[in-house]
Amino acid sequence: MSFKEIYEKSIKKPEEFWRSLADDIFWFKKPSKILNSTKPPFYRWYEDGVTNTCYNALDLHIQNGLGDKIALIYDSPITGNKSKFTFKELKNKVSKFAGALKNQGIGKGDRVVIYMPMVPEAVIAMLACGRIGAIHSVVFGGFASNELASRIDDSKAKILVTASCGFEPGRTVEYRPLVDGALKLAKHKLEKVIFYQRKNHEIKLNSPLEISWNESLQNAKDTDCVEMNSNDYAYILYTSGTTGIPKGIVRDIGGHIVALKWTMKNIYNIDQDDVWWSASDIGWIVGHSYIVYAPLFKGCTTLLFEGKPVGTPDAGVFWRVISEYKIKSLFTAPTAFRAIKKEDPDGKFFSKYDLSSFKSLFLAGERADPDTIKWAENLLKVPVIDHWWQTETSWAISSNCTGIEMMKTKYGSACKAVPGYDVKIIKPDQTIAKANEMGDIVVKLPLPPGTFPTLWNADKRYEDNYMSNYKGYYQTYDAGHIDEDGYIWIMSRTDDIINVAGHRLSTGAIEEVLSEHKSVAECAVIGIADKLKGQLPIGLLTLKAGVAQDNEAISKECIKMIRDKIGPVAAFKSAIVVKRLPKTRSGKILRGTVRKIADKEDYKMPATIDDPKILDEIKEELIKNNILK
Ligand code: COA
Ligand code: AMP
Repeated sequence: MSFKEIYEKSIKKPEEFWRSLADDIFWFKKPSKILNSTKPPFYRWYEDGVTNTCYNALDLHIQNGLGDKIALIYDSPITGNKSKFTFKELKNKVSKFAGALKNQGIGKGDRVVIYMPMVPEAVIAMLACGRIGAIHSVVFGGFASNELASRIDDSKAKILVTASCGFEPGRTVEYRPLVDGALKLAKHKLEKVIFYQRKNHEIKLNSPLEISWNESLQNAKDTDCVEMNSNDYAYILYTSGTTGIPKGIVRDIGGHIVALKWTMKNIYNIDQDDVWWSASDIGWIVGHSYIVYAPLFKGCTTLLFEGKPVGTPDAGVFWRVISEYKIKSLFTAPTAFRAIKKEDPDGKFFSKYDLSSFKSLFLAGERADPDTIKWAENLLKVPVIDHWWQTETSWAISSNCTGIEMMKTKYGSACKAVPGYDVKIIKPDQTIAKANEMGDIVVKLPLPPGTFPTLWNADKRYEDNYMSNYKGYYQTYDAGHIDEDGYIWIMSRTDDIINVAGHRLSTGAIEEVLSEHKSVAECAVIGIADKLKGQLPIGLLTLKAGVAQDNEAISKECIKMIRDKIGPVAAFKSAIVVKRLPKTRSGKILRGTVRKIADKEDYKMPATIDDPKILDEIKEELIKNNILK
């Protein structure tokens, strides 16, 4: 069938479409009901099906004779370690660790927070949760104690699985102080903390709360997959909301397996014999879906990479990995390619390696600028595909579906809506936009399987936040247009979310922390364009009357506060003290206008501005601070 036929079937006859795809996964009990739409906007896919995430990722392939095939490759240029695990070996490790979790009293529905670097044990812990029906919540290692604590509190986890340390270029990330800080801040008390001791970086553990990974395995029995209802949750992944309180995106089990397995061939053109690499981190949705779950559901080989695109050791490491393991396709964020392009614009490292296995590059997480796409195409001589998705959906909303039909590239567009997603643009007057008209990007309900059925313990927030502004649609909070050929153009976010190196951050959350500084009266955080990371946050601060501290000291303290309370990943390096913030007469801070000034974009003087001179003052400060050059 052509792409058009498949797409139309998915939209016009969704139940028929997703019924036939459900046959491709293992069920203990096949679902008889495909979609329950009785309580919109809460839709349920495959609600009477019974299955297991880990069974579909590992056991099924062993049963089908693939036990000796490599499931997971670990390559860590930052430590010099490499290893490979067959499906059988991975299953044995997962089933033992599942036994270890069980010994700690973990069972169906219990939450396990995983705060780990990119080591195979992190994948093992995720899959072990799936095996026994526990719900994991992975927290990215670049987040600080505060963020870890808020996730422990919201999920009410029983156990934290962590490590003695992670490695970043030039520094060791000690998890001990981060974990201790989180345990102090969290109101909810954990029952156990399991530390994976990294070689030559063992730390002293405090019993009885803490035990090592190896200790936890003593007396652990091999443990089989439990039968799970299709609508039970596989995981919670917290993502930035518009306030400091992160949103717990939940994923149900059956729909997740069906949808993700389907994407491997249909979007990425990956077959079971292929080797696939997603250079992300398991702490992000891309890592959940495309380092761990989708490739393992498909039964192909997936690669876990503990390193950076540059500096571990050089800008040739991606090419070394692709050629060493015969990778067919790579999925990463545009930032990674901008970093490589900056260090090695002429592709000198590239010419050293044989990349004959390599067939396509997929980019997502932030807007892929046409310059970077063209540079990558020129160098790699393979299709470079920008596709668009969100933590909420767990798989692409729009993409070139290369396994169905290769479509032409339109630079700057994330291609067409993927089967399952009925994407529309709604204009400010609430009408559906015509081709090329700008507006809010929405998806007609129901969302397809694998997307979020609700937020963790927050049905009302789910409904209010995503499903209320446009009845019958999911609001993506991205704005853009769809052109006459159906290509989707993502132009900006409509809330306060910014994308820093493909990492989603809330400027509102940064403002909440800055306003806790004793000298800060008011603040505004905006994301300004950055050549490498796409966007970077900067803070503008006004001070309370009579503050004696000098501006430089306040600025340094504010930068440190963000690093300590949100984490280094916020990449917050500029806190600028200004006399006044530009506001409308009704008191709304004109963040958008400041952003345009900082990005040297044309802007109209807002008619409602309180005092236009403030914009000149801000401009001067931006110049003084080297932001505006
Ligand atoms: N644990 C602890 N700290 C971490 C971390 C982790 N897992 N990941 C990043 N950090 C820290 C970094 O060490 C850095 O700290 P610093 O301020 O002390 O230097 C800070 O967070 C910012 O990190 P990062 O955004 O990675 O910037 P960088 O300057 O170290 O590296 C790139 C720049 C482009 C190489 C890097 O951003 C990159 O690889 N991007 C790819 C994007 C990506 O994979 N996105 C995932 C979504 S698809
Ligand atoms: P996250 O939930 O972290 O994956 O971030 C999702 C957000 O990243 C989206 O809502 C977009 O704003 C942005 N994003 C992801 N992919 C793209 C893309 N291909 N083009 C433009 N923006 C993107």
